[in-house]
Amino acid sequence: MTIDIAVVPVAGHGTRLLPLTKSQPKEMLSIGRKPVVQYVVEELAKNGIRRLLFITSHGKSSIEQHFDIDEQLIDYLRETGREEQLSELDFERFDMKYFYTRQRRQLGLGHAVLCAQPLIGDQYFVTALGDSIIGLNAQSEIVSRMTNELVRSGADIAVAFEEVPPSEVVRYGIAQPKGVTDDIFELVDLVEKPTVEEAPSNLAVAARYVFSPRIFEALERTPPGKGGEIQLTDAMRLVLREGGKGIGFRLPPGVHRFDIGNFQSYFQAFAEFALADPVYGAPLREFMEKLLRQGSD
Ligand code: G1P
Repeated sequence: MTIDIAVVPVAGHGTRLLPLTKSQPKEMLSIGRKPVVQYVVEELAKNGIRRLLFITSHGKSSIEQHFDIDEQLIDYLRETGREEQLSELDFERFDMKYFYTRQRRQLGLGHAVLCAQPLIGDQYFVTALGDSIIGLNAQSEIVSRMTNELVRSGADIAVAFEEVPPSEVVRYGIAQPKGVTDDIFELVDLVEKPTVEEAPSNLAVAARYVFSPRIFEALERTPPGKGGEIQLTDAMRLVLREGGKGIGFRLPPGVHRFDIGNFQSYFQAFAEFALADPVYGAPLREFMEKLLRQGSD
């Protein structure tokens, strides 16, 4: 069995980024030269995903437009002698089929994933949150490792994790691993956005999951949890409690998850990507160093 279908939820209001996200999706915010969601799709394409279902909502149509093939723009670039810029549109030609459905009511991430059920049915599938980039170049192969291991081991859930400082556990789903954690570990339980005291570890869900269809049946039975929302974390918990097997994967050393869901990590992500830009990175570094020197005078 190969897993070539991914669900990408992009339906959230982005309230933690207001007013920036009042009329534009957070998934379309720029990180360096590209919108966040383009990095997500590039990563999925590299990991063998060929069918991609976006769970969208009101105000998210610019995401659909971004992945259209824009013949007019291509002609314009050719006619005006800007052929060298055509390569910026290479992502339009990925070997990927796009599907879109809407989460018509904002009932939480778990509910957004459940909106995929009529289309996914009894297939295994990847879920990649549209507001998180994995690694500076979005070339991470963690998703392939997760799908391969899930298929090999017959597990129901695979989740990517990243260690976070204790002050940040309250922002994420947190793993309860079995015993000492290696790169790959058995997932015993998860807690959504715990306090530092409640947190069973500092391993935070890093926005990439692989599921067997069993998750849908659990989501149907998951009542609203944290924040009154139907939480994906709670449905995973249910699967694990009922005997399903879960596997956790640590992001490899040097591969960081960039979370574009709040201003602090959004600013940090932008700064890091801009500094890594092949053309503008070096002069930006000089500029920032000058700025910091001035600030400390
Ligand atoms: C969601 C999940 C959480 C996960 C996080 C990853 O939270 O509920 O478990 O750790 O995404 O980015 P949200 O950011 O939607 O509040």
